Parts: sequence; C-alpha cells; structure tokens
Amino acid sequence: MLDLGTSAMGITNREFKKRRKELMARMEPNSIGLLSSAPECLRNNDAEYQYRQSSDFYYLTGFSEPQAILALVPGRQQGEVILFCREKDIEKELWTGYILGPDAAINTLEIDDAYPIADVDDIILGLIEGRDRIYYSMGKDDNFDGKVMAWVKNIRNNAKVGPPPPSEFQVLDHLLHELRLIKSPAEIKLMEKAAKISAEGHKAAMRRCNPGIKEYQLEAELQYAFVRNGSRSPAYQSIVGAGDNACVLHYNSNNEEIKKGDLVLIDAGCEYDYYASDITRTFPASGKFTKEQRLIYEIVLHAQEESIKAVRPGNTWNAPHDVSVAIIAQGLLDLGLLTGSLSQILKSEEYKQFYMHRVGHWIGMDVHDVGDYKIDGHWRLLEPGMVTTIEPGIYISPSDTSVPKKWRGIGIRIEDDILVTKTGYKVLSNGIPKTIDEIESFMSDQVA
Ligand code: GLY
Ligand code: MN
Ligand code: MN
Repeated sequence: MLDLGTSAMGITNREFKKRRKELMARMEPNSIGLLSSAPECLRNNDAEYQYRQSSDFYYLTGFSEPQAILALVPGRQQGEVILFCREKDIEKELWTGYILGPDAAINTLEIDDAYPIADVDDIILGLIEGRDRIYYSMGKDDNFDGKVMAWVKNIRNNAKVGPPPPSEFQVLDHLLHELRLIKSPAEIKLMEKAAKISAEGHKAAMRRCNPGIKEYQLEAELQYAFVRNGSRSPAYQSIVGAGDNACVLHYNSNNEEIKKGDLVLIDAGCEYDYYASDITRTFPASGKFTKEQRLIYEIVLHAQEESIKAVRPGNTWNAPHDVSVAIIAQGLLDLGLLTGSLSQILKSEEYKQFYMHRVGHWIGMDVHDVGDYKIDGHWRLLEPGMVTTIEPGIYISPSDTSVPKKWRGIGIRIEDDILVTKTGYKVLSNGIPKTIDEIESFMSDQVA
C-alpha cells in the first residue's frame, strides 16, 4: 500500500463543536434545530445497503450510527446540544455490532446530553415547548416530517394548559449548507486524500486496460485501489463506458466488452472519511488515440485547462462554464462539426448538441455538494474554501446522422476537483495522466 499521508487527519471534536456553534449563532433567537440520521435502506429481503450517515447529521456530530436525532437548542441553560441514539444492548451488539449508547455519547462526541431514542417522543416535547420556531429539513424524509408534526400536534393539544407550539417552521438547509460550502483546512486534507486514493484507482484501471477486457473489470480495479487504500466506498457509482457508452453521461451498467479503437471514459471517485472525490479521465483502450479522437480530446483538454484558470475568488461560479462553452464551440466550429459564427452558436446554444451539461458542481461531503449557486438570482462569487469540479466534455452520439460517420460515438470528459484558494485555485486531483502524451506514454510503459 502506498503512503498516502495519514498523519493528523480527520475532523476533531473541536471542529464539530465549532460547526454546531456557528450554526446555532445563525439561528433566530428562541428556536430549535432538529436533524434526523439517515434512514437504513433495504436492498432486498433482510439485506441492507451499507449504512451511510446523512452528511448534514455527520457534519454536526461525527456520529455514524442510524436511528438518531439531534436537537440544537441555542441558549438553553441545561444544555444546547442533545442527542437521541440507540441504547446499549449487548445482545443486539452480538448480531449487528457496537452501539455507542447515550452515556458514552456525551463524552465521546462532547455534547451536552444524550438519551435513548426510544424516549424521544417524551423528552423532545419539553425541548420544543416555548420555542418560537423549528428549523429542520422539511419534505426530505417522510418519516421525520411525520414525527415533527406529531410532536407539534401533541404540544398544540396541550396548549390550553401548557405553552403554545412553535408558530414558525424554517428550512435548516440554507443556514447549514452555507457552512458546508466553505471547507476548512481539515476538510481540504480529507478531500485531497480522497482524490489521491482515486488517482491510484484511475491509474490502475488505465494500466489494466486492454481490448477484450470488460468494463466491470476496470471498475474492479478502481474499487480494489479505493478499498486497499482506506476508502470504504466509492462516492457514487463508478462510470466505466467504452466506445458508444462514453456518450451516455451517467452510464453505469459497466457490463460491455472493451474493443480495440474504443475510447474508455472512467468517471469515478472514492469517498474518504465522509468526503468525496469525482474524477474523469478518457483514454484509448489500445493506448493510442486515433486522429479524430485526438482532435476532439485536444478541444476538451484545452477547455478544461482554461476553465480551471478561471477559478479564482471574485469570479462568478459561472465564469469557468462560459470559458468552457466558448472554447468547445470554437473547437467544434474549426472542425466543421458546427457551422455559423461563434456568437450565433453561443446565443442559440447549438453547442448543446455535443456539450449538454454544466462545467461542474460543488463537491464536498456529497459528490454533488450542497450550497446555492445563485444569490438573489445572480451567479454567486467564488470564495476561498469552496471546491468545485471542472469537467467539460464533448459527446457525439453514435446515432447523430447530422455529423460525418468518423466522428460518431466519440465521448470525452475530463474532470478534476478544484479548490478556490486566496489567490486562485489548487487542483486537488493531481497525478493522473491527462495530456495525450502523458496518457500514451503511461499506457505504453505498462504494456512494455
Ligand atoms: N460523477 C458525476 C459527476 O461528474 O457529476
Ligand atoms: Mn464525475
Ligand atoms: Mn462531477
């Protein structure tokens, strides 16, 4: 296993505490915030999907168990941070593993109080009563929506003798997601590590690629490198698309044979300690680009390089997208794949025939991370600590009879994870061959 740098890595209790404090400072006075852990999901009878805590819940607690509720009650004398979680149960633990339990949770997570989840309905009423407003993530989890409404109803039913129920509901997401959008140094370290592990996966897949191999066998190379280096899961379903499949943006059946002459598009990234990476490389199955593949690749690469340079504080989030569109449209014009003038193509958006998605998205704990892209209807400005992907592409459908046959079925995307720094940008996903020369020489070295 490679030394991927594990020293002093991770989010400390101090940072979790700071996040909770900052969130509570942004809440209106006399309010309560309620969050639920992610639900457990059945894959089929008795078999569950691997559990993964909700990003919001983990961001505020560092607690990875299911069946938990967090209450944040700023200004509450007896304690502001209260967790409801599964009780310790030695017999149950024998079957499904360690349970932290409320008593240990208080010290381990450095929170004010913790109670068994089985008692939540009784205890939480006392926390909600007398508060003017509830912040929670409405309309995302039917079960939790139902619970919150039942608590409010219960308080209302007793309002003749007790305090009135809260009169306002506010979406917690906006406040919380603005915090998540700006990454701390510790978060950036984790994202760099995720990207570093993913780079090993991409190189392993490139190394193993040969005509005749199946797409899922390259997926296996990615997965093995991820897990071997400490990631427990991909951040999303890996895309390994060869030939025409590279033109399908979210292709993930990954079950076809890779043929000589195919381009292979791999869009894959691991999650490390709750932080995602998202990287795409496109390379020729046999190690050498054809003339047409090369011409399209150069346009996408140029668009990616120039879009990355447009990532800097003060630029709008959309600036890199505009750069990528202009370069791709001009490149397609030069090749005769589009006709007319550049300005008319940009205006009519005809380039969307070949480049139909945006240049990127926020990335963090979620691969498509939280945070608004616009403020008051205008593209927001980039700020240090934000992380965005830059991933332009050109996809020429195999069934697009409006273009000469030689171009059809070429699908190319190049994607990296870019941190906004004080002075510009930093590429977090380094170390994977990207230029045509780098790719061809890397692949020929592996064959030799
Ligand atoms: N891997 C999904 C994306 O690039 O957005
Ligand atoms: Mn991707
Ligand atoms: Mn992406």
